[in-house]
Amino acid sequence: MPTILWTGDLHLDHASAAARDALRASIRDTAGSVLVIAGDTSVAARLTSDLEFLADAAARPVYFVLGNHDHYGSTVAHVRDAVLALSERRPEIQWLPPAGVMMLDHDTALVGVDGWADGRLGDPFTTQFVLNDDRLIGEIATPGTRVGKLTVKRALADADAHRLQVLLGRAVATARQVVIATHVPPFVEALPRMGRLAHPGWQPLLVCGATGAVIRQAAAAHLDHTFLVLCGHTHTPTDVLVTGNLRCIVAGARYGDPGVRTLELNGGARH
Ligand SMILES: [Fe+2]
Repeated sequence: MPTILWTGDLHLDHASAAARDALRASIRDTAGSVLVIAGDTSVAARLTSDLEFLADAAARPVYFVLGNHDHYGSTVAHVRDAVLALSERRPEIQWLPPAGVMMLDHDTALVGVDGWADGRLGDPFTTQFVLNDDRLIGEIATPGTRVGKLTVKRALADADAHRLQVLLGRAVATARQVVIATHVPPFVEALPRMGRLAHPGWQPLLVCGATGAVIRQAAAAHLDHTFLVLCGHTHTPTDVLVTGNLRCIVAGARYGDPGVRTLELNGGARH
């Protein structure tokens, strides 16, 4: 059974030199055949150099998805171009959506898409909450209205969901255990049950309904497979069995204190 090293929401733009040193040592000294990153590694201006820092520390393949913060200060288009160029220059660092199905062992497949909070859970028009995405990511900042911004987010989420559907179709054909890395939790069940983020007004900003629908559908159609979702975004550690063969883990995170964890993939969702 493969053991992986994984993390999310490192937000390395908030990490001190000492915190980076500690992270480097922790990655170097922790077991795991690959490093999987569930988004929000940094901000656009330093994303590729921060990914290289992680790959240098890991000295093993790095598979990542992008989080909303990874686009801050730039555009989705520019960031995607930058990470594709990075993967060409450093083949051990792969952005998962175009990388396709990565086999972790003979029966375990890894796929990933970024995911975007698409306002399909909760009410995106009456919530009093707002993310900085609306002003710090070019494509989302451009429309001047809430409806316009939501339209862009839904288009991004739907494109990711469509890609994920294709990837899952390929993954279930080759492995019985499917690991899905994505940034935004695809299920409302994975949100915090207590505290500030438990307010229903956060749901439109914390869940990607489009990817969730695709994953639920795949899990229901393949009851002889197990599906494990690794995500981030809420910074609140959560481990939930969504359905009998579908488990979702959210990485806990704190700004300025980046960390990694190991996970033994022992058949996935069934505890
Ligand atoms: Fe984050």
